[in-house]
Amino acid sequence: MTIESATNTGDLPERTRRALTLRHIEHVRAGTTDVHPDGARLVPASEYLDPDVAAAERALMRTVPLVAALSSELPGPRTYRTELLQDVPVMLIRQDDGSVKAFLNSCSHRGAKLLEGAGQIQKRISCSYHAWTYGPAGELRSVTQPAKFGAIDFCDNGLVELPCAERHGLIFVVLDPTIEMDIDVFLGDFAVQLQMCDLDVFAVEELQNLPHGVNWKVALCGYLESYHVKTVHARTLAPSFIGNVSTHDAFGPEGRHLRTTWSMNVVTEMAAAPDVETVLDGLEAAPYNTVLYLWPNTIITAPDFVGIRFITRVFPGREPNEQLTDNRIMLPADMSADERAAIGPFYEGARVALAEEDYAQVPGINAAVQSGFRDSLLIGENEPSVTEMHRSLARATGRPDPDQPAPTAQRSVR
Ligand code: FES
Ligand SMILES: [Fe+2]
Repeated sequence: MTIESATNTGDLPERTRRALTLRHIEHVRAGTTDVHPDGARLVPASEYLDPDVAAAERALMRTVPLVAALSSELPGPRTYRTELLQDVPVMLIRQDDGSVKAFLNSCSHRGAKLLEGAGQIQKRISCSYHAWTYGPAGELRSVTQPAKFGAIDFCDNGLVELPCAERHGLIFVVLDPTIEMDIDVFLGDFAVQLQMCDLDVFAVEELQNLPHGVNWKVALCGYLESYHVKTVHARTLAPSFIGNVSTHDAFGPEGRHLRTTWSMNVVTEMAAAPDVETVLDGLEAAPYNTVLYLWPNTIITAPDFVGIRFITRVFPGREPNEQLTDNRIMLPADMSADERAAIGPFYEGARVALAEEDYAQVPGINAAVQSGFRDSLLIGENEPSVTEMHRSLARATGRPDPDQPAPTAQRSVR
């Protein structure tokens, strides 16, 4: 793993594409891939079974910035969107000045839900229970029959506001009104990686919900390595990828945010070319798929070769073996009908790959872990982001790195 720093984008997209392509070419030539410096690791099954670990992770999710929505889901003043994030009902409202505020989706009177789904606030937010009303900035505007209700302080009874920030097409919320969020510190040099995804110009085309019964970290693992692409995705993505040729890099505070890129087949041709500089000078699109792990629970998949983005959030469930994944498939907002038709096969392949292929692995892994017959899972050195994801979540919940060296004494596979 390397730590790559950048402070402004400038020609960073081109430099990044060039540098990563060179790494892919070198890997293909050498028959290698990025590896974890600590080699293969054993992650104990308790990571997926221990109720205390699960409770600590759920508590963690209430203290750190989470992706609550995409900027394009609040397209104009007074548009709103509701979300249930870790059992917290949240409503997001675009303000008249263009900023976004987040509130608990709950009336200050006796707690009724105020908004459903998504839409636009007309005059005021009106509670469906006793008809109190609120302004879009969360201020209490009216109380029904106030003389009979009794004296209350309007200023003290606005909506509960949650820390909220918007960066690079993403809206972040912290599920605790007492916490101060510094989103720029949280993202650090990962911000430019998000910026390079151009999420501002994409609109959500489809939302998939994948509530499979498995620990959320098991679900996350599938996004962080390309080792499985040739097998799991044999019917869909495999023909486009070399498989098991990846780069892995860490960004932001403590290297929590990760980027992994996966070699496309075209890199094989590039690697065979005698003059790499000419190949790099002629790059029109990145010959790899980019996957960003926006700590702690969001995956952004940004294939450069096709105009499509996937924003995937994996939430811990109430039990250690429960999770909820939601996946937004995004297309450029100004995409023409012809362009849509052109990417149709990839679009369909990708949605099938996630819902029917990646998550088809989940029940088997979960059954094995739940059986008690697996005291650990084995993580290859070619899956460094998987190891790092487990470590960063353990450290953030006050635990030591959970992984141990994989025994190599009897017979090495080298
Ligand atoms: S709960 Fe909203 S007005 Fe009573
Ligand atoms: Fe996959």
